[in-house]
Amino acid sequence: VKVNSDYDLDNPITSKVGLRQGLASYGDPHFSLFLRKVFIKALGYSEDALSRPIIGIVNTYSSFNPCHANIPQLIDAVKRGVQLNGGLAIDFPTISVHESFSSPTSMYLRNLMSMDTEEMISAQPCDAVVLIGGCDKTTPAQLMGGISANKPVLHLVTGPMMPGSHRGVRIGACTDCRNNWAKYRAGTIDIEDISAINDELAPTAGTCGVMGTASTMACILVGLGMMPFAGASAPAVSSSRLRIAEVTGKYAVEATKQLDTLRPQALLTRESFLNAITVLQAIGGSTNAVVHLMAIVGRHPKVAGTIDLDTVDEIGRKTPLVVDLKPSGDNYMTDFHNSGGMLALFHEIKPLLFLDAMTVTGLTLGEEMARASYVAVPRDLSVIQPFDKPLYPVSSLVVLRGNLAPGGAVMKASASKYRRLLKHSGRAVVFRNSVDMAERIDDPDLDVSPDSVLVLQNIGLVGNPGMPEAGLIPIPRKIASQGVLDMLRLSDGRMSGTAGGTIGLHISPEAADPTSVFGIIRDGDVITCDVEARLLRLELSDDVIQQRIRERSQQVEEQNMPWEARKRIRGYRGLYMRHVNQAQNGGDFDFLTAEGPDQRTVSQ
Ligand code: FES
Ligand code: MG
Repeated sequence: VKVNSDYDLDNPITSKVGLRQGLASYGDPHFSLFLRKVFIKALGYSEDALSRPIIGIVNTYSSFNPCHANIPQLIDAVKRGVQLNGGLAIDFPTISVHESFSSPTSMYLRNLMSMDTEEMISAQPCDAVVLIGGCDKTTPAQLMGGISANKPVLHLVTGPMMPGSHRGVRIGACTDCRNNWAKYRAGTIDIEDISAINDELAPTAGTCGVMGTASTMACILVGLGMMPFAGASAPAVSSSRLRIAEVTGKYAVEATKQLDTLRPQALLTRESFLNAITVLQAIGGSTNAVVHLMAIVGRHPKVAGTIDLDTVDEIGRKTPLVVDLKPSGDNYMTDFHNSGGMLALFHEIKPLLFLDAMTVTGLTLGEEMARASYVAVPRDLSVIQPFDKPLYPVSSLVVLRGNLAPGGAVMKASASKYRRLLKHSGRAVVFRNSVDMAERIDDPDLDVSPDSVLVLQNIGLVGNPGMPEAGLIPIPRKIASQGVLDMLRLSDGRMSGTAGGTIGLHISPEAADPTSVFGIIRDGDVITCDVEARLLRLELSDDVIQQRIRERSQQVEEQNMPWEARKRIRGYRGLYMRHVNQAQNGGDFDFLTAEGPDQRTVSQ
């Protein structure tokens, strides 16, 4: 066959880029390319356009997703950046997951989104991909999928929303959602106030404006080198956000010339992840980020197994919390941005960073810091504290272990309201699940005191699919009415990154697992938490514990609890129930991890 150069697959310059990738579908690759051109020309592209490197732009816009409402403008700006620099930009959708519109939970859909992202990056002829997203589960899902697909990916987050205002006080989603709802529950503000507040908590497009999960993950992406410095904090509605989008398009085209170094499995090293964990600790980030980081690490063939929950704790021991944002502190993401954002933070914590870690621009973190123009904000105007005068000395996020949580538990110690609770023993008040808790928590007859330990079981990855953010167990009304704001609370679930309190989360193995010690706690059992010693202990002998586990596993079979029932569930839910691994492994599906189906699951 005589082949015109437009269909030439052997040209060393063009054979690996653009439309010529992955042409096996119709047996004859020349014909496949011919057909592919037939269809893409239906969109009006010229041969000139189609001869360029193709930059895919992942579009997670949805009318159900206010956190992503600015994506159409961001796509325009990325396209401008791509096309000014010689590439062809083609956007395509993946699913959109918003926290409030994802029943049963957004976490339940995270892995689905990561599979969608991975497969669509792999399926389509993109040379590099810009991942646009922002809401809590989106960025981790995109990075998990991006690492597995292993084409160069560059993150562009939608950016934080602006704060609103009520009676002259700034408010913002969603730390102030919780604070104000608690006040309304306690009767200190009325229905008019809470309704006015409802109008102002999310006053613009963009992600929650505090150091919740979305902002935490955005900062972590900069720590990993996957996004430019200002990318984490520029407001969703700012022109700066659009310029970041444009430059991301430019970097995406450049990345196609450095495939060997900028594919995520090459770019991201153990040091990149250590930097990311340092960022997490220094910003007092969301506990959810720990779960996501473990899942992301688990996708990376060379890093998986070298970083685990203990790494998070070890880095915490030398990292001060220096960013004064809600929920650990007082301010909003816009304040962080105006204080210099991630670049200023990096200057503050520089001694803790691995500056040789690579970034998506093709320069190392140290080289990027050196070339970025940096004008320090005066100390008294900055929400970034000096390294030696931190908001919290070390260990903002801690990992607890002990007989109650052999697989680990996570606590945001910096968000504790009463420090005495960080070393505390008390009698358990146990709720079997969320329904049980809702029914009894405000019962005037509940046998509870301010020193009790509130235990909420069965809100783990399998027990309550999607591991809801129900870990912020409310203070029982009869205790709250005494003015008590915090108690020691434990669960196998998650908590919103925008929440605070002395709360142990992600307890593993989860209660639904028949071997779980957390699952056999009963009312009145004594529980000890000692954060300094990183200990979470049920004060029962091993014999009693084993006896209770035996009794319970018989019940589990009789009652057909989720652990057994999951084998017979159809569809995505069945896939999820059968394959989700435990929190310390990130709640990923076992068949998606770098180490394979037989690895790193608990008791299966
Ligand atoms: Fe999307 Fe908070 S709901 S970031
Ligand atoms: Mg959240």
